[in-house]
Amino acid sequence: MGTFELQELMKPQLLHAASVHFPIVLALLGIPLLYVAAVSSTEKNTLLWMAFACYALLTVSGFLAARAGFQAAEHVPSNVAPDVSATLHRHEEMAEKVWMFGLGITILILLGFIKIKLFRVIIMILAMLGSIALGGWVATTAHFGGMLVYKYGVGTPSIAKQEKETHPPNIIQESPGTSPTNDALIPLREIDPKAAQEVSYKRDIKPLFERFCVDCHGNDSPKGGISLTSVASMKLSGRKSGPGIVPGKPDESSIVRYVRGELLPRMPKGGPALSENDLHVIRCWIFAGAIDDTVSSPSSPEIGNPVGTSEGKK
Ligand code: HEC
Repeated sequence: MGTFELQELMKPQLLHAASVHFPIVLALLGIPLLYVAAVSSTEKNTLLWMAFACYALLTVSGFLAARAGFQAAEHVPSNVAPDVSATLHRHEEMAEKVWMFGLGITILILLGFIKIKLFRVIIMILAMLGSIALGGWVATTAHFGGMLVYKYGVGTPSIAKQEKETHPPNIIQESPGTSPTNDALIPLREIDPKAAQEVSYKRDIKPLFERFCVDCHGNDSPKGGISLTSVASMKLSGRKSGPGIVPGKPDESSIVRYVRGELLPRMPKGGPALSENDLHVIRCWIFAGAIDDTVSSPSSPEIGNPVGTSEGKK
């Protein structure tokens, strides 16, 4: 049983650890390759093809490594220290963009095959600048990833043990498709109607969603078919689970149910769960009618934050 558990935990981590070296190596290899391809004769395109293959592979492997990473991140306990979860979030945010970056350079290289002198020169300069920027980007991403593993022990048996100690039943319970994946539901706190009135969308809610949700739930092709950029868009239904917010009824609002872990995958997907306090603030705001105060902002003086969000903490 013990070894089985460990295997289950290690799997996505191992996959990520193995796959993540491809984009790193390719991003570094691509820089000199592209340079040589750019300065060599325009007649022979072999080098340009090699550069193309390099960045195409980088795009694919970057995408796969990030996916394995997001899966691995679901096994990271949600109660890790704030600096660990901030590093994880940063690492994920950056890693997610590597493949897009790679794709951009791949497309530039393809355009480089077009033999119009000046156009080609400009394209190759852009591709080279892009490749250097991507090299730096990947190195920084890898640095955060390295910190997670070697400094904080994320993805190693030590952190798995940590989770076991804090939530004894959950790891063993884990079975595909059924109960919540990484941990228990975020507990609900009782809403004080008066305090709930004090929550401001503009001050408390919008920054929270911008920080944790809008990367995936922005305006163009939002995940799950729901954009979290405005109160109006959150009142619309997502792909599967009805309206994001039902004013007055926090616990029927899909946003609350996903954040809480009642509906899966827990949001923010792949990242650490929101704090009990953040969830409470969201619920209070919905309870009080999900008022949008971005348009006609109330003239009440800033009394500080009555319920408190984690916004201030970093
Ligand atoms: C890393 C990307 C990502 C982040 C960050 C993220 N989500 Fe999601 N979200 C998804 C994906 C993917 C789905 C679709 C999941 C599915 O249905 O399998 C989804 C679905 C949803 C849905 C369900 C829509 C429906 O009806 O189908 C809600 C509600 C939601 N997310 C809310 C949030 C909230 C609130 C946050 C921030 C606290 C957040 N998400 C952060 C990726 C993300």
